[in-house]
Amino acid sequence: MARQLSSYVCQSCGAAYGRWQGKCEACGGWNTISLETAAAPLPGGGAPSRSAGRGKGRPLALEGLSGAAQEPPRVASGIGELDRVTGGGFVKGSVILIGGDPGIGKSTLLTQACAALARRGERVLYISGEEAVGQVRLRAERLGLADAPVELAAATNVEDIVATMAAGPPVRLVVIDSIQTMWSSAVESAPGTVTQVRGSAQILIRQAKDSGACVILVGHVTKDGQIAGPRVVEHMVDAVVSFEGDGGHHFRILRAVKNRFGPTDEIGVFEMTGGGLSEVANPSALFLAGRDAGAAGAAVFAGIEGTRPVLVEIQALVAPSSLGTPRRAVVGWDPARLSMVLAVLEARAGLKFGLSDVYLNVAGGLRINEPAADLAAAAALISSLAGSPLPPDAVYFGEIGLSGAVRPVSLANARMKEAAKLGFRAAHLPAPTRDAEKDPPMTLRPVADIGDLTAMIASRRRPAPRPVAADADG
Ligand code: TYD
Ligand code: MG
Repeated sequence: MARQLSSYVCQSCGAAYGRWQGKCEACGGWNTISLETAAAPLPGGGAPSRSAGRGKGRPLALEGLSGAAQEPPRVASGIGELDRVTGGGFVKGSVILIGGDPGIGKSTLLTQACAALARRGERVLYISGEEAVGQVRLRAERLGLADAPVELAAATNVEDIVATMAAGPPVRLVVIDSIQTMWSSAVESAPGTVTQVRGSAQILIRQAKDSGACVILVGHVTKDGQIAGPRVVEHMVDAVVSFEGDGGHHFRILRAVKNRFGPTDEIGVFEMTGGGLSEVANPSALFLAGRDAGAAGAAVFAGIEGTRPVLVEIQALVAPSSLGTPRRAVVGWDPARLSMVLAVLEARAGLKFGLSDVYLNVAGGLRINEPAADLAAAAALISSLAGSPLPPDAVYFGEIGLSGAVRPVSLANARMKEAAKLGFRAAHLPAPTRDAEKDPPMTLRPVADIGDLTAMIASRRRPAPRPVAADADG
């Protein structure tokens, strides 16, 4: 029987099937499977055949775990927020995948990084597979970077790119914008397919390791924010960085998702201006700008993003619902976490949200993943329900357990210091806070459980025009 040369490959996760089907069982995507000719063996890739070489290997020279560890050699881009996310600069010979929505500013950021490096005398290539050379030049002109000695080409064939990298003086940085447009003649699939993207990425990664150049691959993202195409590229590269932001806001957040040479969860904050992306040195001030401190339902959360404290306002709106099943909508936070906090408030503090629509918003477009935001979210919810504004100079942080107890979170002092710097004077925080030192930078208001929090907010309640469903001592 002839060996089958084509297979059906899911274009979103790379799973292969013998026949077409509507749903990919590996990633659950619908209509993502299409026919691909089997790839020719990738250069340098592919497992050796099982029978070959059994018993013929050479014993490896094994070493202990301790020994001289070397800091990987890095090249700082000169853009502070970008270097913070990569862990201090691009590591030589490493490959970074950067993903983000279309129009978020990936090409802009990378043009700025290329220009900064090129101006310091490094050889930098910018390969655009999406835009013509003229378009890239126009952007550079708009950014005021047209005089930077960046070497530019519009190309999509990876063999050509590798040959360009190999010719001439050593290249320090290569930007490939984007990996989805690249194709290799060693791979027998149509450009844009998973097999092509994977094959092209593999060739570029090998070239990076061989030549010591840092390669940045731009990747598209799908509607739900995953980096499109094969997840396998994420596994192959050294670092995955996502560039986020929301269309209505000017600022953009660069977030490390994976980093073999540095910390993850570090963020860089930029603002998109008419002249490109500018770094934001004090994100908290930006996120709190335009805050209406006297409104009910707003609590300031002292959070930590990576190693950096960031203050954001969490806004809640609890409004009578006209729907059979009241609406719960969340922007910037985990909806499951909101459901949990609401359930705890109902069960442990006797508050009634069952007949109300509940909206929760993290102001400014930041996305929060920390459980420490529970207390701020709960305070905002109670404040909105009671129609009573929270003290304008207070911040909140702490994790809420299912019992209603407020649990300690890490880095309490860093959070308070940042808040004190911005003029806040009181912190509502978990009762026994391990690392709150003797000399806290602000007044401590320990909250042992949800009941404490409810009582605290109820004691501030002014006679409200509308009847309040919450009962503090319930
Ligand atoms: P771009 O870098 O092309 O996005 P991506 O490569 O992620 O698709 O940025 C596109 C958007 O940025 C575009 O809508 C215009 C805006 N922009 C500015 O506001 N200021 C600028 O200086 C530049 C270059 C772009
Ligand atoms: Mg682009």
